[in-house]
Amino acid sequence: MKTVHVEASKAYDILIGKGLYEGLGGRIKEQFPKAKKILLLSDETVYGLYGERVSGELSAHFSVCTFVVPAGEESKSVENYIALLETMAKDRLTRSDLLVALGGGVVGDLGGFAAASYLRGIEFVQLPTTLLAAVDSSVGGKTAVNLSAGKNLAGAFHQPSLVVLDTDCFETLSEQVLRDGCAEIIKYGILSDRALFEALFAGKDYAKSEECVARCVQIKRDYVQADEFDKGLRQCLNLGHTAAHAIEKLSNYSISHGYAVAIGTALIARGATEKGLLSAEQCASILKLLQVFGFDLHCPYTVEEMIDVMLSDKKRAGDQVMLVIPFEIGRCELVKVPVEALGGYFKM
Ligand SMILES: NC(=O)c1ccc[n+]([C@@H]2O[C@H](COP(=O)([O-])OP(=O)(O)OC[C@H]3O[C@@H](n4cnc5c(N)ncnc54)[C@H](O)[C@@H]3O)[C@@H](O)[C@H]2O)c1
Repeated sequence: MKTVHVEASKAYDILIGKGLYEGLGGRIKEQFPKAKKILLLSDETVYGLYGERVSGELSAHFSVCTFVVPAGEESKSVENYIALLETMAKDRLTRSDLLVALGGGVVGDLGGFAAASYLRGIEFVQLPTTLLAAVDSSVGGKTAVNLSAGKNLAGAFHQPSLVVLDTDCFETLSEQVLRDGCAEIIKYGILSDRALFEALFAGKDYAKSEECVARCVQIKRDYVQADEFDKGLRQCLNLGHTAAHAIEKLSNYSISHGYAVAIGTALIARGATEKGLLSAEQCASILKLLQVFGFDLHCPYTVEEMIDVMLSDKKRAGDQVMLVIPFEIGRCELVKVPVEALGGYFKM
């Protein structure tokens, strides 16, 4: 097992390894001796696979009530958020009780926001079960639900108090969900670790290994510690995401986030090369690694179509857009680009 310690507004540990649900209840009880009740949040797919086991472990030490939502992004809704709060109130959870989110980024974000606001904030534990949740959404305290006007428009910064990441869960992931997580892992290599980038040429088995996941969690931890509230440096984690958000939106979310990130990373890498900021050789290496993971890098939309969407994005600041530019593999920087020059940074 590997432990990554986070020192943010709240300090907490992220435990990474195989078989970590064994003795989970006791581990949580040790850290939260005053807690008596747990609201266990999950989605139907994950609950069907791991719910009974996790609930059994927790029930040995706590009174457990469960709240299970349908699998999928639609569950990150205001309606589920309210229903979750009402359930916690009906079950009389107190400030010393806990919310435990078992699942991918959807239940992590939904549960985190409910925990941030119920009784003005209770502690919560993340049990991420997708690769994306493991290396990204369960770390760093961003929580949210979607509004009809857009994704993640209502939320809060609320760090978990513990993250237990059982890598055995990755064995039941579909190819698509696994690959989506791999896009974020490749991102970490390009962003700040050339050795990780090179090691990823070994493929998916390496990507879902304890060693690789722990390295990605450390990288994300470092960005979160440097800029918890996303005012500057943390925005580097958006490498490939500016175009990706536009691609997801234009496809009406039929293109998955991970796939869109892969295409977005290819677009910005080619753009950086065209501008003489990234060598052609390193750009080719980035494209090759994305292809090793099975991403077809064809972008179905024109740069103009994507820019229209980018300019309506909430991250735009006046007449400039912040882009994360790869200068070399392992070194990316934030660059403010005037709106009229944006098109030059994305190359098909
Ligand atoms: N808070 C953050 O910092 C942050 C960062 C990145 C993404 N996100 C959010 O995360 C969400 C996407 O997360 P996701 O990709 O984990 O999606 P998800 O939670 O919808 O999970 C994807 C699918 O995998 C299934 N699944 C989960 N674990 C499984 C397992 N072990 N075996 C089999 N099936 C399993 C789920 O039921 C679901 O159908 C988005 O809402 C995104 O906005 C948040």
